[in-house]
Amino acid sequence: MPASVIAALEERFVLHRLWEQSDPDAFLAAVGPDVRGMAASTLAGTIDARWFDRLPALEIIASFGVGYDKVDANAAASRGIVVTNTPGVLDEEVADLAVGLLLATLRRIPQADRFVREGRWPAGHFPLSPTLRGRRVGILGLGAIGKAVARRLDAFGVPVAYHGRSPQKSVSYEYHATLPALTAASDVLIAVVPGGSGTRHLIDATVLEALGKNGVLINISRGSVVNQDALVAALQAGTIGGAGLDVFDDEPNVPEALIAIENVVLLPHIGSASDATRTAMGQLVVDNLQAWFDDTPAITPVPESLHLARRR
Ligand code: GLV
Repeated sequence: MPASVIAALEERFVLHRLWEQSDPDAFLAAVGPDVRGMAASTLAGTIDARWFDRLPALEIIASFGVGYDKVDANAAASRGIVVTNTPGVLDEEVADLAVGLLLATLRRIPQADRFVREGRWPAGHFPLSPTLRGRRVGILGLGAIGKAVARRLDAFGVPVAYHGRSPQKSVSYEYHATLPALTAASDVLIAVVPGGSGTRHLIDATVLEALGKNGVLINISRGSVVNQDALVAALQAGTIGGAGLDVFDDEPNVPEALIAIENVVLLPHIGSASDATRTAMGQLVVDNLQAWFDDTPAITPVPESLHLARRR
């Protein structure tokens, strides 16, 4: 969270800086009973009943991020705690990164940069890369971010198809009723579905095999959507052509096996991580908390919280 957002929180609320505590347990025991709101990064850890027990006065969790798979929103709702996230304000930024990662992976841009830095250019040409031309792109999850990715790909002149829970009337992209059908019809698969139990390991060994030996996987959603071991195996065996990953199973830990593979591009979960977008996300966190404690409805409650969105 940018410092300006922390400052905005501090201006409006009594802010307890849990992330700075050397003994968070003792700190929570002291201030926990007074805490009524929580601003939480999606990536900091799991927020579930263990937290709710220690924060008995908690009314709202304003989660910093669009994906809230680390927050047990159902358990929160059952205790009357509303959960908000930060949809919308990051769609274009994340879509930019998805397309950048796709191009970086296909054209091997980071590898080429390493080639120059390591002084290898004078000794020979950088190997020719695969191309985006003529590829069919499949998008898994055509929500707001998926649509923003698709719009960008239109400009590249590549055909786009998608799979999701249901076909969408507002778009003309080809719909596939199953992920295997989408994958069989795609040379590039871009995962844009939310994380959580409903999408866990959707992309498994079978899907990767269907993508094919020239196929490329791009994941900007959650590591949990892909069976990471199966992905490593497919890359090692050459049954897929490459991968661009912004997300992993156990962030910030990336398996050595992935790091050792040359035809992957690995990013440290930076989809939304521009200064402007993180500031906009943070402002939405502040605005949700402010709205709630002003007794007006939370601005962007998650679906599990919709019935709670108004404080009184
Ligand atoms: C980042 O991954 C987010 O969910 O916003």
